Amino acid sequence: MAPMTRTFPLNDSVDIPAVGFGTYLVSNEDAPKAVQVAIECGYRHIDTASGYRNEAAVGEGIRAALESTGLSRHDIFVTTKLWPGNPAWGDAPRTHEQTLAECAASLERLGLDHVDLYLIHAPSGGAQRLNQWRALIHLQAAGKARSIGVSNFNQSHLDEIGNAGLQVPDANQIELHPWSQKPELLAYMADNGIAPIAYSSLVPLSTWRTEAGQASAKTEQMKADSGVFTAMAARYGVTEAQFLLRWGVQNGYAVLPKSLKPERMKQNLDLEGFAIDEADMEVLRGMDRGQGVAWASGDPSVTE
Ligand SMILES: NC(=O)c1ccc[n+]([C@@H]2O[C@H](COP(=O)([O-])OP(=O)(O)OC[C@H]3O[C@@H](n4cnc5c(N)ncnc54)[C@H](OP(=O)(O)O)[C@@H]3O)[C@@H](O)[C@H]2O)c1
Repeated sequence: MAPMTRTFPLNDSVDIPAVGFGTYLVSNEDAPKAVQVAIECGYRHIDTASGYRNEAAVGEGIRAALESTGLSRHDIFVTTKLWPGNPAWGDAPRTHEQTLAECAASLERLGLDHVDLYLIHAPSGGAQRLNQWRALIHLQAAGKARSIGVSNFNQSHLDEIGNAGLQVPDANQIELHPWSQKPELLAYMADNGIAPIAYSSLVPLSTWRTEAGQASAKTEQMKADSGVFTAMAARYGVTEAQFLLRWGVQNGYAVLPKSLKPERMKQNLDLEGFAIDEADMEVLRGMDRGQGVAWASGDPSVTE
């Protein structure tokens, strides 16, 4: 086994590492060390968001890692996300001007002059959704984001951008794992040159978000068929986490595993040296259970 260093193209001048380090639910206390250790382990992409309320601590970790490894800012791909607001939660959608200000605030917290990818976290901005996207186009032109995209957008949200005659997103970050495969959305994205970035790849693990308050909504059917991944992973001599992450990368999705445990961080990056064969990929294609289990799958302002 060896660390995965491959990348996927996002636009004419930007490639995204196939494996990135996720920071959702990583506290301000844990983030500096976790991000530093992740980069020291070999991660070259860090995914955060204004909504995770840990950007300053993530930025601290990036700076510490650049110092300890001798890497430069250009070696690290950094993603952060606009919190777009959500009227259903009494949170007014951000306007064009507010989106520009939110990006400036994220950069300030991160201690960076640009990010490599800036995403609209969800399509919950309602009537402001297109204005938010126009602001991201502006931010890219201004050099604040090398690539721009969206997250949790379905086909109708992506169509809205296309129908307005605007530049299409470079990427759509969505929940993707064998239980939530979204084949129609992915086909549409492929047709329109929108790269998929997978989040929550490790949902099928029994160890996925087990701490209090992080409860998942796995169905009984999901729980019943989780043994399939365990058995397949054992045949390849890898852990179930490696198997699920390899499934994503083999399908062409950048993945974003999160762990606070250094040995798991290393394991989650060690995805070279085995490949899932076509017969198993076919079995896995049959395991799609539709919508995912993460927050966006149950939010009407996102799934509308
Ligand atoms: N755009 C969005 O709306 C959105 C939504 C969700 C997530 N994301 C992004 O995607 C990232 C990943 O998604 P996620 O945080 O939901 O979950 P994930 O990375 O799929 O899974 C993390 C969970 O799995 C455990 N784990 C990690 N590696 C493991 C291993 N090798 N063996 C056993 N258990 C392991 C972790 O526990 P330990 O920490 O204890 O190891 C944690 O409970 C996020 O951090 C975030 O950056 C984006």
